[in-house]
Amino acid sequence: MEVIICSTDGEVGEKAAATVANKVRQAQASGRKAVIGVATGSSPLSTYTALQQLIDRGELDLSQAYAFALDEYVGLPAGHPESYCEVIRKTVTEPLNMIPAQVNVPNGNAEKLDQAGADYEKAIAAAGGVDIQILGIGSNGHIGFNEPISSLSSRTRVVKLTEQTRQDNARFFDSLDDVPGYALTQGLGTILDARACVLVAQGAGKAAAVKALVEGPVSAMCPASVLQWHENATIVVDEAAAANLELADYYRAQASH
Ligand code: GLP
Repeated sequence: MEVIICSTDGEVGEKAAATVANKVRQAQASGRKAVIGVATGSSPLSTYTALQQLIDRGELDLSQAYAFALDEYVGLPAGHPESYCEVIRKTVTEPLNMIPAQVNVPNGNAEKLDQAGADYEKAIAAAGGVDIQILGIGSNGHIGFNEPISSLSSRTRVVKLTEQTRQDNARFFDSLDDVPGYALTQGLGTILDARACVLVAQGAGKAAAVKALVEGPVSAMCPASVLQWHENATIVVDEAAAANLELADYYRAQASH
């Protein structure tokens, strides 16, 4: 695991985008269309902005790439502004100039959600697997919507959201009652299958989760800690999110080499 500590959100975005661009170029250099895993939430927004700048400068091309979102709420009507389908369209597909038909989001309105989960796994595999997975982290350590005690080898499936997650996400809705209770999410096993992962976290509200992710035991109580098993995981945080890290100076020293 590599930990990069940044002084501003803009720098978090630039470092994470550089990691993404690197993996995309590697895929393209080997003659494949790149496959990026994309996340919702506020954390990756600066990464998307930085990716857009790389595209504008002609240093990155995602126009032929595939994307797979991590998750989707169950039961939000199509076109709902907070459905992840809409959020990904606005924050990823359009600004990064991607082909809409090549950007995939799990179908949280499928009649058979188990089947939709299995189909999503097949679609990822058919595209050649994810080259680089972008991740945020919930204040309780979730990635995607893999809440505490998710199996460390789970696949795409329906998950009941914790009250903490519903409260954290209530800011995007008119009221807490409007936040769905369930989501369809890639599993931790699905995420581990990506060739590389980059997780971004900003702010003091993420400090405990980042501490558990980087320095805690691998535990289903902090689902993000499963990234300790990944051989190519980069964690990009700001100073506030890094505040609880015991070995912060060591990570800084490593990053400067
Ligand atoms: C949501 C998403 C996660 C995201 C997390 C953090 O619940 N399912 O993918 O990482 O919240 O969100 P934010 O970045 O807004 O703090």
